[in-house]
Formats: sequence, C-alpha cells, structure tokens
Amino acid sequence: EQAAPLCGRHALVTSGPTHEPIDPVRYIANHSSGRQGHAIAAALARLGARVTLVSGPVTLADPEGVSVVRVTTAREMLAACQAALPADIAVCAAAVADWSVAAPASQKLKKAEGPTPVPAPVLTLEPNPDILATLAAPGPRRPSLVVGFAAETEAVVDHATVKRRRKGCDWIVANDVSAQGNGGRGDTFGGRQNTVHLITSSGCEDWPTMDKEAVAARLATRIARILADPFVR
Ligand code: PMT
Repeated sequence: EQAAPLCGRHALVTSGPTHEPIDPVRYIANHSSGRQGHAIAAALARLGARVTLVSGPVTLADPEGVSVVRVTTAREMLAACQAALPADIAVCAAAVADWSVAAPASQKLKKAEGPTPVPAPVLTLEPNPDILATLAAPGPRRPSLVVGFAAETEAVVDHATVKRRRKGCDWIVANDVSAQGNGGRGDTFGGRQNTVHLITSSGCEDWPTMDKEAVAARLATRIARILADPFVR
C-alpha cells in the first residue's frame, strides 16, 4: 500500500484544449498542449490510481497505464467525464473553450459567391457547459476530491480564490498565463514549465517554477496524502 497509495482509486483527469467548430474546416481553440493534464494523469497512475484521461485534440502520446478518451468539443468532454463517473478524484486541467458557435455552418463558409464578395460572417457564440462546476456540484456522484485549475492573467491568486468558491471545487491550482507570467517567461500554455499556487480551504501555497511533470508529481502526492487522511482537507 505504501508503494501505491492510490491503489483502488479512480481518477478522472481532463487535459488539452477543446475545438469548437465554425464550419467543417475552421474552429475556435486555444494554445493548450495537454502537457500539464497528461503529466497529472501519468503521475496519478504511477501512484496506483486507475486513471481516465479525457483529452481534447493534442499531439502528445497517451500516458502509460492510462485509459484515454479523445474528444473535440466542450460538450463532448462533459459527456465523456459524466460517462466515466464514479470517480474518487477529478482534476480538471483542460483549457475548455468558454463559448462555442451557436450554429456552426454545415458547409465551408465562402468569401465570394462567384465574382461577388460575401460580407464577413458574424459568429454568434453561446456559453459552453462548465465541466469542473458540474463535477464539483453536490450529489451522490461527486468525487471526494475535485481539483480545478485557474488560468489567470492578473491578480492570479485573488481571482483563483474567487473561482474556487464559484466553481465549488476543493482545490484550485492557479497559474499566471500572462506574457509576463511563469517566472517572467510566459508560455505556460504549451510550454514545458508551470509556476503555480495551490489554493485550498486552508490557504495558498506558492510552488516554485517547475517542469509540468514535477508539478504533476507534487500534486499527485498531495492528492494521495489528503485521500489517506480526509480530515485534513
Ligand atoms: O496544456 P498545457 O499547454 O500544458 O497548459 C496547461 C494549462 C495552462 C492549460 C493548465 O495549467 C491550465 O491552467 N488549465 C486550465 C485552463 C483554463 O481554462 O482555466 P480557466 O480559468 O478558464 O478555467 C477554470 C477551471 O474550469 C479549469 O479547471 C478548467 O478546466 C475548468 N473549465 C473551464 C471552462 C469550462 N467550460 N469547463 C471547465 O471545466
């Protein structure tokens, strides 16, 4: 049990961006590479958890010993997460698009009808479901520990603290994704390293800048510790 503290636990991890279609060849997306979420899935598996990784479109290899469900849109990601329940742990590291196009075109949008130019399309967006808030909502299927991420460009800890309460998760991992963030280098999205703050009900811990694999290992160790001692959360 010492070597595999999460043995017998099921962990659900989201990772990567979502792609929200505009038409059959265009989409709305962001710069998430999936590196952080995939590293968390791998770290939890190394501690003995059975891991379901629900991933948006990424170019990374599947982590070893992890069951991967590939999705494209936020709605598909939510459905895959709900299908994977029950879980003891949920970690939402995906950069889910907040909006999708209300009525994606079924054919490629054209710039011109023959010689006549067509006015630029106006996209109407509608909000996507919030996967983290849905998983964290009270109910019989709520995982014992729900961990969110907060990508912020200013007042990182303050905004993330508010976000933890609003979304109802137990912990939130805040990262500065501004150009000046991540120890002054920017590039949290898609980069190799992450500078994060772990915000729990008992306060905020500042972690040093680390490779995303090291952030994942430290987070997984914390998760294993809290599940072994639920009175500490
Ligand atoms: O993938 P990488 O290139 O390694 O980059 C890692 C990362 C920067 C993407 C990652 O560390 C990170 O911060 N992920 C969360 C990004 C994000 O969308 O943050 P947010 O503040 O917009 O969302 C807050 C939380 O709600 C997140 O846990 C997010 O997964 C979740 N969310 C958001 C919107 C939505 N519709 N559903 C959600 O579940």
